[in-house]
Amino acid sequence: MGIDDRLEMSRRGVLAAGAAGAVVVQSGLGHAAPVPAAEKTVFVPLSLEVNGTSHDLRLDTRTTLLDTLRDHLHLTGTKKGCDHGQCGACTVIVNGERINSCLTLALQHQGDKITTIEGLGTADKLHPMQAAFIEHDGFQCGYCTPGQICSAVSVLEEIRRGVPSHAQEDLLTTPQATNTEMRERMSGNICRCGAYSNILEAMAEVAGERA
Ligand code: FES
Ligand code: FES
Repeated sequence: MGIDDRLEMSRRGVLAAGAAGAVVVQSGLGHAAPVPAAEKTVFVPLSLEVNGTSHDLRLDTRTTLLDTLRDHLHLTGTKKGCDHGQCGACTVIVNGERINSCLTLALQHQGDKITTIEGLGTADKLHPMQAAFIEHDGFQCGYCTPGQICSAVSVLEEIRRGVPSHAQEDLLTTPQATNTEMRERMSGNICRCGAYSNILEAMAEVAGERA
């Protein structure tokens, strides 16, 4: 076999290998991988009562309550801080209990009554806690404030109902709105501006006691 024959054979070999590769690549492109069932979007009908108004929605099952309030109902007073249950900026009141709305799916709240900062008071008729926050300078940048106020309102209601906390030495006694008690119950609401002492003064005023 001469050198020309060997070159011709290796040229054919390269072309054949290239053609085989092209077939493999094309067959990969020609058949898109099937979407796993778990990644398919499922929508559910849902009714929520938010700040006294009923809303009928149709939502992706993965939508959090926080995103429902902000993106679907345009109630942007409730803030998204960490989106991981660590800052309390997204606190709202559901059936009288404060919760982190970023940690719960909207579909878990069929028929629930939800109160956001927009439902507590208006500019003309502030909720007493909103008025106290203004009076005591309980905020600086204001980002955490809607969550702080929703929590503060709920905390005083918890104390009034006698719900125990880790701050109590004797769980059989009725809790009081002391500085220690309020600090413990508000510990899930982070304020990067550090307005904590003023927030406590505002709460103490509403509770009728001094912090
Ligand atoms: S945004 Fe929900 S706890 Fe931070
Ligand atoms: S007032 Fe700025 S984070 Fe609390």
